[in-house]
Amino acid sequence: MQPIPLNQYVINIRRFDPEPGGCERRGSFALPMPPGARLLDALETIKAEHDSSLAFRRSCGHGVCGSCAVQVNGRNMLACRTLMKDLPHQTIIEPLQGFPVIRDLVVDFDGFFDRHDAVMPYLVNNEPPPQRERLQTQTEQERILEPITCIMCGCCSSSCPIYRADGEYLGPSALLKAARFISDSRDRAGGERLDKISGPDGIWRCHGIFECVESCPKEIDITGRIGELKRLAVKKAFSGGKKP
Ligand code: FES
Repeated sequence: MQPIPLNQYVINIRRFDPEPGGCERRGSFALPMPPGARLLDALETIKAEHDSSLAFRRSCGHGVCGSCAVQVNGRNMLACRTLMKDLPHQTIIEPLQGFPVIRDLVVDFDGFFDRHDAVMPYLVNNEPPPQRERLQTQTEQERILEPITCIMCGCCSSSCPIYRADGEYLGPSALLKAARFISDSRDRAGGERLDKISGPDGIWRCHGIFECVESCPKEIDITGRIGELKRLAVKKAFSGGKKP
């Protein structure tokens, strides 16, 4: 059997050591990788064979959990869904921008999750439950199909210049979560959620830059969804505050 040809890559990683006396530095690793290898494989090879102190997150390895998001040559992507053959031979890996760095490629998601909490990221319905389940028509289901594919990897919020500059802005990910529940026919808290996202740190801070859409690994039209929320908020304001 012919041996698999290996391509040579140089992976430059922006690293950060939080220990006293530690600092920010760049780690450079020359790696031979097979063409079908993923960036996550490269990171695991570095950790196993070159430097076991390298810190990064991963869990599912298949684009489901959202934990392996990093910045690759300036674009946010999932390491487990990025093929080495699609990257240049010199590649720069950095932690997600707009998040405090804990160590190397591991960032702090606390503020990100706090913003999700602020939009009530759960179904609210106090009506007595039906015998079996709260049914939806196919059309009602289709309205939430796109936003429920969000894996909360943080790529969208990190790529948004407003999110990075304004520590209070809810950001595309939390606003998408609000859209997901506001569009859900079974939910009864749409009006309350709209009020929460219509303040100075909500939907009106989005300037339609589309960076979030560009970086979403699930190709969700996040800017379009925020636009829908803006229309609903205006409708609500003109209907005397009633739920649109
Ligand atoms: S490891 Fe789960 S999305 Fe990449």
